[in-house]
Formats: sequence, C-alpha cells, structure tokens
Amino acid sequence: MSDKKNPPEFSVLPRHVGFIMDGNGRWAKKKGLPRSEGHKEGAKVFRKIGEYAADLGIEYVTFYAFSTENWKRPEAEVNAIMELFGDYLNEVIERIRENDEKGIRLNFIGDRKGISPELLGLMDYTHKLTEDKSKVTLNIAVNYGGRHEIASAVKEIAKKAAHGEINPDSIDESVISDYLYTAGQPDPDLIIRPSGEYRLSNFLTWQGAYSELWFSDILWPDFTEENFNEALRAYEKRNRRFGGV
Ligand code: FPP
Repeated sequence: MSDKKNPPEFSVLPRHVGFIMDGNGRWAKKKGLPRSEGHKEGAKVFRKIGEYAADLGIEYVTFYAFSTENWKRPEAEVNAIMELFGDYLNEVIERIRENDEKGIRLNFIGDRKGISPELLGLMDYTHKLTEDKSKVTLNIAVNYGGRHEIASAVKEIAKKAAHGEINPDSIDESVISDYLYTAGQPDPDLIIRPSGEYRLSNFLTWQGAYSELWFSDILWPDFTEENFNEALRAYEKRNRRFGGV
C-alpha cells in the first residue's frame, strides 16, 4: 500500500513521468453529475499525484491539463477548467509555506496566446515563487499541443537562420529540443494514460518518441497513488533499448 511517509522503493525510477488526465467527463456522467464536477475531482487527483511524485523522488512530472484542441468544448466547460487551474494557482500562493516542504517547482508549457491575462499573471507569479524548489519540477501543460510546439520551434529556428544567427547545417535533434517548452528537461521516460484510451493525443509528441507507455481503464478522478505504483512497477520491468539491441 502507499504510505506517504514511506513511499515504496523501486529498483529503477523514471526521471520524468507524463500524465494524460483523461476520463473526467465519463466519471461525472456515470455519477449523473455535470462534466465540470469530473474536472473538479480530477484537479484534486492532480494535486495528490503531483505531491506523491515528489515523495517518490521523481524529478519531473508533466500533467496535460488543456490541449490546443480543447477550445472546441462548450464555453462553460472551458471556463470551468480554467477556473480550476486558477484556483490551484491561488492555493499555491496562499499555501506557499506548505509548498516549501513539498518542494514543488511549477512550470508551464503551452502557447500563452489565448490564456487570459489574469491566469498568465498567476502562472508567472507562481513560477517565480517556486523557482528555487528542487524536489520535483511540475509542468502543467495548458493550451498545449505537441505539433504546435514543434511548428513554433521550427518557426523560431527558421527566423534565426534567416538572420544568419543559426547555421542551417548545425540544426540537429538537440537544437530542436532546445526550442521546445521543455528545453533543458529530460524526455519523459514514462507516459501514463488512464480512461481506456490508447493514444497520445498530441501530448509531448517530440519528447515522447522513446517513452514507455502505460494505459489503464481507470478514470482519472479514480486514479490513486497505488495505480501510480502499479505503473512504476510495470516500468521497472521494461527493457528500454532506444533502437539498440
Ligand atoms: C480530459 O478528460 C480532461 C481535461 C480535458 C481537463 C483536465 C483538467 C483538470 C484535471 C483540472 C484542471 C487542471 C489543473 C491543473 C488544476 P475528459 O473531459 O476528456 O473526459 P472524458 O473523455 O471522459 O469526456
């Protein structure tokens, strides 16, 4: 069982784990509740799993909170998700002393265009407030799309090349990685997707090229520390070859 004070030991631990927080809507529907209630419960699980990752000693975790495609949802649902995100950031500010112990460094990945000025202010403030925390870097992907991220990186690099600041012959995989939102971070070793869907949905498209994948039928609001342990136990047994033998 998971015990916060004594988390289980693993023979290998991923340095970076990505989470696709899927199944909030179905969880709510099953209970006859509005979809926003599913997101509310999902936001609680996000907090719990982020803190547990820090207890386990995982260095980087990335949570997919809102994709570039999620704007297609009804306005009320988009607003509900953004409100929960804002509530979380305000809570981080109010409880900064507790966060000191948790050691969570907040980082945001995604396109800032389209995010409200209020949320952008909270994102910048909480990023600055937590930048010296060192237990875990918690990336929240908001208005994030993997293809969009790669296209933006390519655009930046092309502009520099046009101005003679980059030699096109020097552009390799590491140069592209340096222009992504996750520059300087290790690629995700493990990506976890609950809710019975078996796809990556534009999440960490470049960075996830060699990620191990773990899927489960559990809906995100029901996801527990024990489910995370299960994924980590499965990861322990994976034989990562990165194209070698
Ligand atoms: C996917 O489930 C979930 C989302 C698009 C939103 C995730 C947002 C949160 C967990 C809360 C806000 C975030 C933070 C960081 C506090 P779905 O709605 O697609 O579920 P379904 O497939 O069952 O309909």
